[in-house]
Amino acid sequence: MNITVSSSKDSLAEEFAYVLKEMSDTGEKIHVALSGGSTPKVIFDYIAEELGEDILWDNINFYWGDERCVPPTDSESNYKMTVDHLLSKVDMPEENIFRVLGENDPEEEAIRYSKVLESELPIVNGIPQFDLVMLGMGDDGHTVSIFPYNIELWDAKETCVVAVHPDSGQKRVTITGKVVNNAKAVAFLVTGANKAEKIKEIVMLEGNYEKYPASLVKPTSDDLTWYLDKEAAKELDF
Ligand code: 6PG
Repeated sequence: MNITVSSSKDSLAEEFAYVLKEMSDTGEKIHVALSGGSTPKVIFDYIAEELGEDILWDNINFYWGDERCVPPTDSESNYKMTVDHLLSKVDMPEENIFRVLGENDPEEEAIRYSKVLESELPIVNGIPQFDLVMLGMGDDGHTVSIFPYNIELWDAKETCVVAVHPDSGQKRVTITGKVVNNAKAVAFLVTGANKAEKIKEIVMLEGNYEKYPASLVKPTSDDLTWYLDKEAAKELDF
């Protein structure tokens, strides 16, 4: 587990932006699962503004680790957030973008998207393998759309399942733990003081860490990096 602490969201965005750039420079097609929520907004803005011309977008396929079951025009849509902050500003071919069809029936879409991942990605250990999975973490320690109350979804045998947000009841399609942990590399991007306590518990293996889905992220590749801003890292004593 690597941890990088940045002085600001912009410098965190810069660190992560160069990961994408380096991956796109390999010349191979790379498959990246994006996270949603609000943290990526500043990161995508930075990537678009500072590296939009440098990243070889033809070499990257974008997927989503989870998506809200809403239309792509809905303000809740992770796809819409990504279009607004990144895809509308860079020259990524449409055919490289594999969104979850949030407007579809959730159960049917979980099956369809599983098949998309199983056909587009290399299959390693019998599981679709991303080159990079980008993750966020909720205040409650959830990641992708697997929440503490239904942490057992992490071990589902499916590639994608339907999850329900514990407060809003919103349905979501999410990849499962086996897909996350089969990735070549995993990047957690977490900012804000409200995440600091959970970060400490998970990194230091303290308190109720085992109850948080984020603590189950342990890629078999061992390539896991936490990109934190100093607020999110403030409880870590190093
Ligand atoms: C989602 C995300 C989710 C997110 C965390 C953190 O669809 O909401 O994929 O896992 O990464 O909830 O969200 P914030 O970045 O908004 O804190």
